[in-house]
Amino acid sequence: MSYNNILVAKENSIATITINRPTKLNALNTETIQELHKAFQELEQNPETRVVILTGSGEKAFVAGADIAEFADFSVEEGVQLAAQGQDILFNFVENLKTPVIAAVNGFALGGGLELAMACHFRIASDNAKMGLPEVSLGVIPGYGGTQRLPQLIGKGRAMEMIMTAGMVTSDDAYRMGLVNHVVPQAELMDFCKGIAQKIMRNSPLAISSAIKSINSNYKDGENGFETEIKSFGKCFATEDFKEGTTAFLEKRKAVFTGE
Ligand code: COA
Repeated sequence: MSYNNILVAKENSIATITINRPTKLNALNTETIQELHKAFQELEQNPETRVVILTGSGEKAFVAGADIAEFADFSVEEGVQLAAQGQDILFNFVENLKTPVIAAVNGFALGGGLELAMACHFRIASDNAKMGLPEVSLGVIPGYGGTQRLPQLIGKGRAMEMIMTAGMVTSDDAYRMGLVNHVVPQAELMDFCKGIAQKIMRNSPLAISSAIKSINSNYKDGENGFETEIKSFGKCFATEDFKEGTTAFLEKRKAVFTGE
């Protein structure tokens, strides 16, 4: 499938999605959000995709936010619709994918850009990256899950301060707060992410999907993460991956997982 605002590349079961609106610092307009949804959906449906890396084109920005020009004259109803639809088709969608998604934060990740990085399963930043939720400086609040996921990742007090001050943090600060897992020189960012993807790919894809589901369950209303974990744990025992993993261990060889 061809897209206007994103690029999709596949190499050895690792897919890379690059948001490609460099002249607008990769700001998320409606079409980009829809294209990202389609691309993630297509990759998720292909069992050959084992890890997705999401990044921005150019050296300046991951994503500098939702496209301000697009929503500047919205009504209350349109604002609600924008946030609800975006959360549904992109932000919650990515968080709940079975395939691991790594955000390679290669520059500014602001507003919707940081919200998108936070919806990914974890984040690696380049040393020049800057992150923030500056929405209150525009008279609005984060609407793509930022008020929920930022406190989950860095704690309530720090999230309150970041959101209220509309300030940006450096990648080193983001690392100290637990917002990103690693900081690497920009030129090494993609290879570093691919290295982590390779480590993930040595393991059972089914077990990884179950782990994502169980971890996410803790943050869902009306769900008990411990119960989800118990059920998901039990289901693993019916899989070929479990048979292969345990047999390979006992036979002192490397497991070859099929994801069945
Ligand atoms: N929405 C729409 N367009 C955006 C954008 C956004 N969130 N962020 C950047 N752009 C556009 C700029 O309007 C500019 O377009 P133009 O050349 O047609 O005028 C282009 O991207 C380059 O941005 P510019 O502001 O000139 O770059 P800079 O290096 O001076 O500043 C930022 C970089 C990231 C500090 C600045 O672009 C910025 O503050 N962006 C908005 C961040 C924001 O508030 N995001 C939250 C939105 S909810």
